[in-house]
Amino acid sequence: MFTLTKSFALLATILIHFHTAAAAPTQARQPPRPSPPSGSGSQFANAPGGQRGAGGVSTAPTGSSTPQDVTTGTACAVSTATIDTSGTTLPAPSFAPSFIGLGVGTQNYTCGSAGTYTSTGALAELFDVSCLVGQSSFTSLQSTAFAAWNSSTSTAVSSTSGVLSSANVIASPITLGQHYFITNPVTGSGLSPKWDFTSNALAGNADAFVVAAKIDDVAAPTGSADVDWLYLTNLTGTTGTLANEIYRIDTQGGQPPASCTSGTADITVKYTAMYWLTGGSF
Ligand SMILES: *[C@@H]1O[C@H](CO)[C@@H](O)[C@H](O)[C@H]1NC(C)=O
Ligand SMILES: *[C@@H]1O[C@H](CO)[C@@H](O)[C@H](O)[C@H]1NC(C)=O
Ligand SMILES: *[C@@H]1O[C@H](CO)[C@@H](O)[C@H](O)[C@H]1NC(C)=O
Repeated sequence: MFTLTKSFALLATILIHFHTAAAAPTQARQPPRPSPPSGSGSQFANAPGGQRGAGGVSTAPTGSSTPQDVTTGTACAVSTATIDTSGTTLPAPSFAPSFIGLGVGTQNYTCGSAGTYTSTGALAELFDVSCLVGQSSFTSLQSTAFAAWNSSTSTAVSSTSGVLSSANVIASPITLGQHYFITNPVTGSGLSPKWDFTSNALAGNADAFVVAAKIDDVAAPTGSADVDWLYLTNLTGTTGTLANEIYRIDTQGGQPPASCTSGTADITVKYTAMYWLTGGSF
């Protein structure tokens, strides 16, 4: 009987281990849930409290994983985090922060007849840094990310996750979504910036995007090589409910050369920034 009980216990242990080992890859295929982080350099290794755990996805077998909440799309609550716009005249937020994304991407420019570059939009991947708020690495993320991205031989924004993990800026980057430009959906002309989490953190939520309008634009306090800091709000007449306000702060790079020769090819300039989204319905 003892032997039988012991054997059963051993079998149960093996089954639990098997289940644990088998569970991760299965869960990782579900879009809103990130691969469980691994290694001590993980983004979540020292995650502070306040992790969002409301959704029915908190089935991680060990304490080391921080599942991304399927409802909120971000791993740690950020509503009490403070947006630091000191050194600028950007307005204070009217809503609580809901997402903090490290943006890694490119600013595109075309050379006008006057011999100066004008913006033709931007494309960036936004990575969830909600669990890094308050950690020592948080305030330098945009710089460490820029150093890695700017020295990468690739200019493809699709390569940015690999760039961040290779340089150990974020060991296991979790993509919130993409930032890009679309034709202004209200007027049908001109470009409007869009933040779109419908393919990543909030896959399956058709309203998980915001199209915005720029309200305020100030020079980066860090210098003329860095793109401006911005304050935007959701554009009247658009349907996405991802955010009410968007801040682009802590920029690195992205500015074009001061002059160009008319007729030369468009250019792409790498940049990083911290995007803070407030309000919204997620
Ligand atoms: C910016 O340029 C890159 C490289 O040419 C291109 O892949 C991307 O689609 C462009 N994005 C925009 C918004 O023009
Ligand atoms: C980024 O890299 C380019 C070379 O690809 C270099 O010319 C430029 O100075 C770098 N930018 C910064 C801000 O380090
Ligand atoms: C922004 O979105 C909120 C809902 O999230 C909506 O109530 C508000 O009217 C929108 N603002 C504008 C300017 O469209």
